[in-house]
This record gives sequence, C-alpha cells and structure tokens, in this order.
Amino acid sequence: MDWGDNIISGLEWSAEITNREGKERVGMNIANKMKDRDIIGVGSGSTVYIALLAMAKRIRHESLHIQVIPSSMEISMTCIQLGIPQTTLLDKKPDWTFDGADEVDPNNNLIKGRGGAMFKEKLLICNSKETYIIIDESKFVDKLGSKFPVPIEVFPISLPYVEQEVRALGATDVILRLAKGKDGPILTENGNFIIDAWFSLIDNGLENRIKSITGVIESGLFIGYDVKIIKS
Ligand code: 5RP
Repeated sequence: MDWGDNIISGLEWSAEITNREGKERVGMNIANKMKDRDIIGVGSGSTVYIALLAMAKRIRHESLHIQVIPSSMEISMTCIQLGIPQTTLLDKKPDWTFDGADEVDPNNNLIKGRGGAMFKEKLLICNSKETYIIIDESKFVDKLGSKFPVPIEVFPISLPYVEQEVRALGATDVILRLAKGKDGPILTENGNFIIDAWFSLIDNGLENRIKSITGVIESGLFIGYDVKIIKS
C-alpha cells in the first residue's frame, strides 16, 4: 500500500542550484545512457538531483525497468518522489554509477563530499564496472584542494586523535563541520562527524594515508579511480 501524499512528496531541493543550465545538459546526457533493466548507482548533490529529473521522464515515457542504488537519504527520497524503484548494494551490483564532484583535476582525481555522502558514494564507485562524474565547468581545478577542503568522516570519539594525525599529514587547517538546523556538529547518515581538512599539497598517496588513520571512516579524496568525466 502506498502512503499517498506525505512530507516526502512535498520536499524540494534544500539549497539554491547554481549553474542550473549546465547541470540540465549533463543530466540529459546521463539520462540518455540508461538501458532497460540497468541497475544504476546514484551519487548525491544538486547535479545528480537534476539528472534524476531527466531520468524519471525517460523511465516514464519509455516504460523502462530501472533500479537505482542511492548514496544518501536525500537522493533516496528524491527517487521516492519521482517513482524510481530502488534496491541496495546487499542485493544488487550496479551496472554503472554516476555522481557529481566538487573538484576535478587534469588527471580526473576528485574531491567530493560537500554533501557529506562520500562514504556511500565511494562504495558505489568501487562496486561499479563504470562510473560517470557529471560536472559543470566550475568544477575543474589545476590542483586539488584549490577551492575545497578534503572532507573526512570520523568516528566521533576518535575526533582528537584523528585531528592530530591529519595535522601530522600536513593539514594546515582542520574544521569540524557544524550543522545547520541542529546545534553542534553534523552527524552523517552513518552517525559520524565530518572534519574538513585544508592541505596545501595533495599527492597521490594522501588518500591512503588518511584512510589508514584509526577512526577515519572515509575521505572525500578519490585519487586514481577509473571514472569518465562528462561535462556540460
Ligand atoms: C556529495 C558530493 C556531491 O557530488 C558534490 O558535492 C557535488 O555537488 P553539486 O552537484 O551540488 O555541486 O560529493 O557528497
């Protein structure tokens, strides 16, 4: 039985969407990649949201049988609104995944995680045969860390230790991400904190060095992943 009209059906994107036209172009592009019966991993963020709108139209008009695996509650609720069927990684392996990014360097290395969903986003990318990163021009940088810090999801009681170790890796500033609409720090969908760490130098080994700190769940650094970039 369906719930009928409820709080989820009335939800809207929570912030202003910048570069909407560019996002609509890459959204159409990714929607056109869908084939009947695909299982698709879905990242998070406003570009992904816009792409889902285009995908939902194609699914409806062409009666496609698609299942998606969302990386966040935000995207899961969007799929509920749009009537896109969902499954989980426990049950299905994605044929392909698409996601956004905050920064993309000339070697297709990424910073992600402004939306705090990088753990499940990375899990989806690791589980997929193919991944498309959909971006507008504003996401290209010469050097990772130019505009965005590296988000790091941290098991809460390990916060002081992780801060100490991240600073020892060369972070010049480490900030605890605070919530809007709740007092105190953000809690991720996995019940953890996020710290945002600024580095003046991000080399190819930094992702693994961060990940090896006890208490770190995951970081938003994606170095050397086999991803295809689709730009607007
Ligand atoms: C969320 C992400 C997003 O993909 C990234 O922040 C890009 O978002 P947007 O498309 O809104 O610019 O990594 O964790």
